[in-house]
Amino acid sequence: MSIVINTPERIAQLAAQEYVALLNKKPQAVLGFATGSTPLALYAELVLLNRKGELSFCEATSYNLDEYIGIDGIHEQSYRFFMDRSLFNEIDIRMEKTFLPSSSIADEAHLAEFDCEIEKAGGIDIQLLGIGRNGHIGFNEPGTPFASSTHVAKLTESTVQANSRFFLSADDVPRFAATMGIKTVMHAHAIILIALGAEKASIVKTALHGPVTEAVPASVLQLHPFVTWYLDYEAAALL
Ligand code: F6R
Repeated sequence: MSIVINTPERIAQLAAQEYVALLNKKPQAVLGFATGSTPLALYAELVLLNRKGELSFCEATSYNLDEYIGIDGIHEQSYRFFMDRSLFNEIDIRMEKTFLPSSSIADEAHLAEFDCEIEKAGGIDIQLLGIGRNGHIGFNEPGTPFASSTHVAKLTESTVQANSRFFLSADDVPRFAATMGIKTVMHAHAIILIALGAEKASIVKTALHGPVTEAVPASVLQLHPFVTWYLDYEAAALL
């Protein structure tokens, strides 16, 4: 495990260099992406580097961590819409090689196939993660078994409240999401976790230095051999 502490802007630049190194060595790399506020600066940096020709996604495949259940890809708050707008439309990735878990509850029984598809593609080379204030990774809320594969998860009230900033009201936030499981995430060859801001300081400390427990999903990352935690000064304040 390594920990990088810097400003949010510098973190975006440093983390982006991991993608430059990977894609230049392995153009057909498999990338695991995340949504939320945290990755936005990194995505902006990747767009910039792609335009400058410093890296290309044209042979890459991507799998996203999660997607809300019950809203489709043209809904502005769907994670498909978010990814298209903040990254995929702006880079040279082939749209048909970008995958998110299905947003349809009718597909629930088939969600574990998402993990099979990832394995068939060779496994995720870099999985990007943010962290919830309650320690969730993806939508794996506290208590999710470490052995979980991609599944439908019920959002906790704290996650609904945290995500309501993107919706008209908390009532509009979907209560369920399809998410990679913790086992899926742990199968990635390397993981980048970015945490920014004072509101993440307490959970960062707990996840990094507390016991490894299903009560704190991100604590499982202590067991992964190649995780880099990119923290800004505020998120690292309690370390
Ligand atoms: C997003 C995801 C979530 C977020 C987490 C932090 O795909 O899976 O686990 O990474 O909720 O969200 P932000 O970055 O908005 O603080």
